[in-house]
Amino acid sequence: MVKILVTGGLGFIGSHTVVELQNEGYEVVIIDDLSNSSEKVLDGITAITGKTPLFEKLDLKDKAGVEAFFAKHSDVKGVIHFAASKAVGESVKEPLLYYENNISTLVYILKELKKLPSAAFIFSSSCTVYGQADELPITENAPVKQAESPYGNTKQIGEEIIQDTCKVVPTLKAIALRYFNPIGAHESVEIGELPIGVPQNLVPFITQTAIGLRQELSVFGDDYPTPDGTCIRDYIHVVDLAKAHVIALGRLLQGKNKSNYETFNLGTGKGSSVLEVVKSFEKVSGKSLNYKIVDRREGDIISAYADTNKANDELGWKTKLSLDDAMSSAWKWEQKVRFNEY
Ligand SMILES: NC(=O)c1ccc[n+]([C@@H]2O[C@H](COP(=O)([O-])OP(=O)(O)OC[C@H]3O[C@@H](n4cnc5c(N)ncnc54)[C@H](O)[C@@H]3O)[C@@H](O)[C@H]2O)c1
Repeated sequence: MVKILVTGGLGFIGSHTVVELQNEGYEVVIIDDLSNSSEKVLDGITAITGKTPLFEKLDLKDKAGVEAFFAKHSDVKGVIHFAASKAVGESVKEPLLYYENNISTLVYILKELKKLPSAAFIFSSSCTVYGQADELPITENAPVKQAESPYGNTKQIGEEIIQDTCKVVPTLKAIALRYFNPIGAHESVEIGELPIGVPQNLVPFITQTAIGLRQELSVFGDDYPTPDGTCIRDYIHVVDLAKAHVIALGRLLQGKNKSNYETFNLGTGKGSSVLEVVKSFEKVSGKSLNYKIVDRREGDIISAYADTNKANDELGWKTKLSLDDAMSSAWKWEQKVRFNEY
């Protein structure tokens, strides 16, 4: 069995990816420091796959700890690196926390991968690198714009660090996956998103409002130049996103990559407005959502959705699940989390 390290594997996207990796027969070892997740996620992964992944509780900022991990697991063939801090607002207030957590951890892992005879590396990047793109849909060739936040900057710098390293380490092959907006939960409702505190993202805010944890959803601006005036994003079901990681990893392990460093957009190719997401939620849940239109929020991008041709053609990957599927699973997950004291 091919052993894969998944950092941040107990988090939202990481846990769904561990499920898909195990379903495809990979042996998974997770590193997570539980700073934004719970060890209970292991039970959910086990319930779905019938297999408990190896788990090492480790803060990847601990350089000696990372070295010791790779000394113990020298048979790791690939790494999917999810572990990072991801709250944009917090990153503005605490930039050094973000640069330390998102950059030093990446460097420590790459230093270890450099020592291996060969290694495949998948990096969690983001469409935030494009900022407000000049052309829609956004292709991988769209220019990387000045980052709007320290968080966004860590993704840009992270990509540059990997690219520079791949240039001089021929045994290292890497893919940066630029996610659009991951939402939803596994259909089994065994794993999902577990935001700590007030959710930063639209969908958990919607489900928490519907369940009574938040009073109402604020829709920031309805006077944007879009069909209904609200901002547009490309919402991708987390299970579709997870499957793309397994395909990207296989591409590297089987040597199908065209260069040692590649980037792919992961989105559906379809933009949905905030009000369309609210309507989808109301349709699948049968509930009416309490929301109000408020002023625009500073720094919001008007519209962003992916050109998926490269991922479709090169990776042979396409999203299968719809916005309604994602909203339905997110709502089932919210009810489970609230009523079963997850
Ligand atoms: N969710 C999104 O909307 C989105 C969009 C684009 C990119 N991304 C990126 O995808 C990745 C995963 O995102 P997510 O939504 O699953 O986040 P998440 O917070 O649910 O998962 C990240 C996991 O990493 C762990 N972690 C953080 N710092 C660590 C450290 N120093 N050592 C060990 N473990 C650590 C956390 O405990 C958590 O379990 C992140 O890199 C994020 O920036 C997320």
